[in-house]
Amino acid sequence: MKNIVLTGFMGAGKTEAGRELSRILGWKIIDVDDEIVKAQNMTINEIFSKLGEPAFREMETEMIRKVSQNRSVIISTGGGAVLRQENMEILREHGVIICLRAGPETILRRTKDNNERPLLQVEDPIKRIKELLEFRKPFYEKADIMIDTDEKTPFHIAEEILERMGWKR
Ligand code: S3P
Repeated sequence: MKNIVLTGFMGAGKTEAGRELSRILGWKIIDVDDEIVKAQNMTINEIFSKLGEPAFREMETEMIRKVSQNRSVIISTGGGAVLRQENMEILREHGVIICLRAGPETILRRTKDNNERPLLQVEDPIKRIKELLEFRKPFYEKADIMIDTDEKTPFHIAEEILERMGWKR
């Protein structure tokens, strides 16, 4: 079976929807960021501040390559993984790419109490969210399936993913 790959901006609900999918399908969920944190023994903030974003992006591609060797798993990617064509090619080889989409206000609400996202540790996070969303939009739209998550629970998002994939009984 193909893997289910979750992409989308920070706060789009990848982790929560991934957990629901994992529960429904009985498939393992692999979070690329968590795997990087374990492998480096550093938090994402530490990696960004000590080694820089380019180093993080290298680690991300390497980890995507590694976790894509699995089959029948859910792979939850970081919000910037879509920016590299190479990442998308690796993920698509054995996976269906699902992009979760949310509006800037929803993203702010879902991310504001968590300081583990270095790109959003700025004075005006909503402005930054809007700028990044605008720039990344064409990259997110390369997914096989796009799903809106505003006002939806993780369970409903998971159900919609399965329905859109034609897997819902
Ligand atoms: C990033 C998203 C984060 C994490 C890193 C960079 C991004 O993952 O990979 O902070 O560039 O959008 P989440 O989308 O899981 O928050």
